[in-house]
Formats: sequence, C-alpha cells, structure tokens
Amino acid sequence: DIKGFAFDMDGVIADTARFHGQAWHQLADKVGTEWTPELADALKGVSRMDSLELILKAGGHENEYTEEEKNALATEKNDNYVRLVETLTPDDILPGMKAFLDELKDTHYHLVLASASKNAPKVLQYLQLTDYFEGIVDPAKLSKGKPDPEIYVEAAKTMNLPVNQVAGVEDAQAGIQAINGAGELSIGIGSSLHDADVKFNTTGEVSLAAIKKQL
Ligand code: G6P
Ligand code: MG
Repeated sequence: DIKGFAFDMDGVIADTARFHGQAWHQLADKVGTEWTPELADALKGVSRMDSLELILKAGGHENEYTEEEKNALATEKNDNYVRLVETLTPDDILPGMKAFLDELKDTHYHLVLASASKNAPKVLQYLQLTDYFEGIVDPAKLSKGKPDPEIYVEAAKTMNLPVNQVAGVEDAQAGIQAINGAGELSIGIGSSLHDADVKFNTTGEVSLAAIKKQL
C-alpha cells in the first residue's frame, strides 16, 4: 500500500516549466543552438548544469566554453529564471493540485518534494505550499540528477518508508525513469509518458480515486 507521495515541482505543482523553458530558450539563442520542441522536452526535469550541457551539445558547441564560462552561462540563465518566478502567487499552482495536496494531507499521507531545482524552496514559498511538505530533498547533495533514481530513493528515506510504499508524481520522462528506477509507483502527468504506471493528461484529473482506478 502507498503511504507517501514524492512530488516533482516544475510542471506538476507549479506552472514554472514554461519559465525554465523561456530562460533556456534565451540562452540557446545566445550560444547559437536552435531551439526545438524536442530540445525543450529533453530538458524537463534535468539539472541546471546537465541542461546547459544538452543545449551546448545540441548545437555542437560543447567544446567552445571553459568551465568558468559555462558556470557564468548557467548563472545568467538562473538570474533570468529567478526574475520570472518572482512574479508567482498561489494562483500559479496548476489546476487541481491544491485540492490533491489537501486530499493527501487530510488523509495523512507522507509528502516530500523531489525537485531537481535549487529554487524549489523559494517557489514553494511564493505558492504558499511550504507547510504541506515534511521535507524537501536537497538536490545539491545528490551525486546524480534525474533520470538517476537517487532523488526518489532519498525522498523515501526522508519519509522513513520502503520504496514500494512510495508514489512519485512527474511531468517529465527523466523523472518517470527516476521513479521507476527507484522501484516506486510512477504517476505521469502529460502526454507521451509511456513508462508511467499511472497516467493522466492534465493535473486537473489527479485524485486518489482516479489513481486507484488505474491500479
Ligand atoms: C527542475 C526543472 C528543470 C530545471 C531543474 C533545475 O527539474 O524541471 O527544468 O533545470 O529543476 O532547476 P534550477 O532551478 O536548480 O536551475
Ligand atoms: Mg517537472
């Protein structure tokens, strides 16, 4: 039986995937990599530095920058992203997710945030959702980012639960791979998440009853 939920944030709880996309698009233009829907999708859930590497590689620019220059590019993207998220309010919680979190809290499920974003604590505050979570996995302490399972294994540890009692909620392929690799129940929101155990097209459809229907 599932006793805890580990949540991705960007594109699941908060409408922030579009801000990451916007800021990375700006950076892709700057380094001369063509911005495509496929590249945008491949970046979802992926850490800041891994995302930068993917963008440089997509345009064949991976050998044109020193480590120092790459760090500066990542900082520039983050500055642009932070400027965008500063406008967030509770109205930017994705449809249905506040109700789902309330349902989980009222029925005493464990809740932990498993976001790759170093900005996650700040974003949760803007959305006024910090109190819902008993913990936030710190991505700075991970040796590998999604699709590696490490972040979801850590989430289960934070809840003191065996992995088979944990469900992970994700909008990105890299995240579903991480949940499946951890041996947890994967809940995918969005199209083309074929490997998810439970699938929804939009956040508005997610509820405990709707999940149970698919099990
Ligand atoms: C999430 C987002 C990614 C983002 C990553 C790192 O996984 O889906 O788009 O690159 O977090 O975010 P950060 O805020 O630390 O740059
Ligand atoms: Mg996401």
